[in-house]
Amino acid sequence: MIMTVGSTKGGVGKSTLALHLAVSWARAGRDVLLVDGDRQGSVQKFIAARADSGRTPVVACVQYVDGRVPRDQVRLQAPRYQDVLIDAGGHDSPALRAALFVGDAVLVPFRPRTVDVQAIGDMAALIDEARQARDGLLAMAVLNMADPGRSSDNVDAIGALADFPQPVALEAKVVEREAFPNAAGFGLSVDELLPRDAKACEELEASATEVPAMVEQWISNGRAIS
Ligand SMILES: Nc1ncnc2c1ncn2[C@@H]1O[C@H](COP(=O)(O)OP(=O)(O)O)[C@@H](O)[C@H]1O
Ligand SMILES: [Mg+2]
Repeated sequence: MIMTVGSTKGGVGKSTLALHLAVSWARAGRDVLLVDGDRQGSVQKFIAARADSGRTPVVACVQYVDGRVPRDQVRLQAPRYQDVLIDAGGHDSPALRAALFVGDAVLVPFRPRTVDVQAIGDMAALIDEARQARDGLLAMAVLNMADPGRSSDNVDAIGALADFPQPVALEAKVVEREAFPNAAGFGLSVDELLPRDAKACEELEASATEVPAMVEQWISNGRAIS
């Protein structure tokens, strides 16, 4: 599967979640390629820190930030990996459009804040555009940096998503917890970080399981867009 973690909004957790999903899937024995599609190179820095610490599994990572290059390179690399995960950078860029064009799926992180919900509207339009140019694109969204517990902001943000035909919100949500940046800074997932934050680990596990399950279901439904 080729999946883009993308949003037109910066700071929503694309790089943090891309790293966490990639490490989580690699730890589950999958062959993962992480593509850093952002000039800021956050994901590459995370993976360099992971390599410095000698941590296994090693996660393959490349950086492609320009126009057509990601699309062509990802197509070339994809058959060699089970999963290709693209961190598509933080604005409506050619790289984001190229990533939406080449991927099977897109995961849009959003925080329980009005600006992030508005950015979902921009993403919905980009997803529509990509779907007109190609067959099928599964669009999912994940609430990140959520408030702990069942806060009204979390509920309102998920509710606001229903205004758009896509993306579809995951059941799983990721709460704002220090463990996520602390782990990512070392290129680790929260399950590799000590002391262990059990709730962060549960949230990661839930999203790392739900995403491929949704992709599989979508593929078995003939990649139909509902
Ligand atoms: N679940 C989380 N809990 C706490 N901090 C988070 C979480 N997800 C992301 N962050 C922090 O929020 C900031 C933005 O995240 P980042 O992954 O860099 O976003 P993006 O790639 O979308 O710009 C970073 O400082 C990151 O460490
Ligand atoms: Mg980033």
